[in-house]
Amino acid sequence: MSSAVVIPAAGLGLRLGGETPKAFREVGGDSLLVHAVRGLRAASAADLVCFVVAVPPGSEETVGKELAPYVGAARLLVVAGGAERPASVRAALDVVPVDGIDCILVHDAARAFVPAEVIERVVATVRAGADAVVPVVPVTDTIKVIGPGGAVVDTPDRSTLVAVQTPQGFAPEVLRRAHAAGADAAVTDDAMMCERLGVVVQTVEGSQDAFKVTRPQDLLLAEALLARRSK
Ligand code: CTP
Ligand code: MG
Repeated sequence: MSSAVVIPAAGLGLRLGGETPKAFREVGGDSLLVHAVRGLRAASAADLVCFVVAVPPGSEETVGKELAPYVGAARLLVVAGGAERPASVRAALDVVPVDGIDCILVHDAARAFVPAEVIERVVATVRAGADAVVPVVPVTDTIKVIGPGGAVVDTPDRSTLVAVQTPQGFAPEVLRRAHAAGADAAVTDDAMMCERLGVVVQTVEGSQDAFKVTRPQDLLLAEALLARRSK
């Protein structure tokens, strides 16, 4: 069987700053989006046959031309994203082919350096029967719940907390059902939309390399990671 990947890349990257939308910011001479696509292609066991990328409206054609050399024999579709991440994922999901696809991945362009083994682990777990799969890493900070005035109301037991990454993997019918149910402002990932339907979301081991480029210092980390990999 084959899998497809939806790549939300339509965000502005406000926390990163700068003139260019985040997915098009370059590290080591290539955009984060190109790094992300290359990383997905390296996961050969995922059998990715279709890449659907959601980009800022108006940039579909340019991005299509830029990415074409990187997807190999796989199909590439580029769509206009929405104002919020769930709308971008939804727009991309709407054009993912139905026939012959047994797993749909959703992968942030901003997590440009995820190792192939994480991608393959997610796909294998979906293929083994899980409806929804997320890669996770342990939380290293103590996390507190605070009230409206800023006072701490709770300190959850850290051993039960994990930080969630992408790609997240789904049985296609499950992801489509979750998006058909709609998203509100509280939705921060696709797994959460599945949880709301009562779907069990399985975790697998993620990687520190799958960090999300979010703030300026993350670009320094990305440069260092690339330098380490090219040694
Ligand atoms: N994304 C998207 N469409 C949106 C918002 C976000 O496709 N309307 C994508 C981003 O391009 C990114 C991923 O979702 O690849 C994760 O979002 P985030 O890291 O929050 O990126 P931005 O929204 O671009 O950044 P910021 O929140 O700092 O503005
Ligand atoms: Mg955002």
